[in-house]
Amino acid sequence: MSEPLELQGRHIVLGMSGGIACFKSAELVRELQRQGATVQVVMTEAATQFITPVTMQALSNRNVYTHQWDTREPNAMAHINLTRGADAVLVAPASADFMAKLAQGRADELLSLLCLARPIERCPLLLAPAMNREMWAHPATQRNLAQLRADGTHILGPAAGDQACGEVGDGRMLEAQELCAEMVAFFQPKHLAGKRLLITAGPTFEAIDPVRGITNLSSGKMGFAIARAAQEAGAEVTLVAGPVSLPTPRHVKRIDVRSALQMHAAVLPLAPRHDVFVATAAVADWRPAECGTQKIKKDGSGRAPSIPMTENPDILADVAKLPGRPYCVGFAAESHELARHAREKRQRKNVPLIVGNIGPATFGQDDNALLLVDEHGERELPHAAKLSLARALVAEIAQRLGRA
Ligand code: C5P
Repeated sequence: MSEPLELQGRHIVLGMSGGIACFKSAELVRELQRQGATVQVVMTEAATQFITPVTMQALSNRNVYTHQWDTREPNAMAHINLTRGADAVLVAPASADFMAKLAQGRADELLSLLCLARPIERCPLLLAPAMNREMWAHPATQRNLAQLRADGTHILGPAAGDQACGEVGDGRMLEAQELCAEMVAFFQPKHLAGKRLLITAGPTFEAIDPVRGITNLSSGKMGFAIARAAQEAGAEVTLVAGPVSLPTPRHVKRIDVRSALQMHAAVLPLAPRHDVFVATAAVADWRPAECGTQKIKKDGSGRAPSIPMTENPDILADVAKLPGRPYCVGFAAESHELARHAREKRQRKNVPLIVGNIGPATFGQDDNALLLVDEHGERELPHAAKLSLARALVAEIAQRLGRA
């Protein structure tokens, strides 16, 4: 099952002010469209020095607007018409000068004019600053930034790194893909605003000797999707990940571990500082009692070595025992009788919510189906992309937090 188009039905006014980062805006139009959005480009005169309106028109498949006296609008009011059906105005790049103008509420050309004239409750304004590091750090720019934030403007980035001028520092515009991801996140309902969520994900690896170990087929995808969904829902997220090669979701703090013992040691001290703990990790139940420093060699006898095993601590159950514990959510990966096993697990681990899924059907896949079991009974989240399920689960957790 493919991921849903994240910006389907959204109409975005993409404003461009002057800066070399205008070249990234061409790709940004494509990224937004790939996610289902329609894009209306508006450029300042300075922006047209860096990339032509023809290029932006061809990419967006719409007329580009560059000045307030545009006679193509029947009522000659482009500054009003352009934002009335829009879900957001994104200015990328937003130059230092353009931010200064917005901070003062000036409106002497079309883009600043339409930003001022937009219906402020219905049509949010997002800025992707792009400028030299000295300009960014200048007290005047920082003062304008604080004013813009106070006025309800959302600031995306900027990133640090190489700049077109040859200097290195803060002020690079985010890449097109990053800006698109920020837009997707922006539109998610903020169910977990102000909450802190801790999550484990992936398999663990239990070493037998320096080159071998016991692990499992968990890909970490469900846990990483929940981390992303929770962050997009406004939570501060810490993700404790076993050995997986997935990219870290944006703005999520990641702690990499290998074994169950390491995961336990990372999670237990952090748990009391969080509102929610979600245990998606497929933690190994046992580990070799000892891990030698040398590789175990065949001894020529034809007999396999016997490897004594010892049980791992149960991270979820231990968090659930903490005084002032966070709201705990466990996962149950089963091969059959999902509801019964999930109910039993909920009792045994003493947690309010268990999320059941069929292990062999989900490990490594991009989609899944979930069964939520809590004190009130069961609720199915039917087969869907893991990110969609993660968003639905986050909403369910938020509801239960509200009731708790
Ligand atoms: O007992 P079982 O492994 O089936 O329980 C699964 C749930 O418990 C999952 O949420 C898993 O992340 C968590 N768990 C854990 N520590 C373990 C074993 C499982 O946190 N050692």
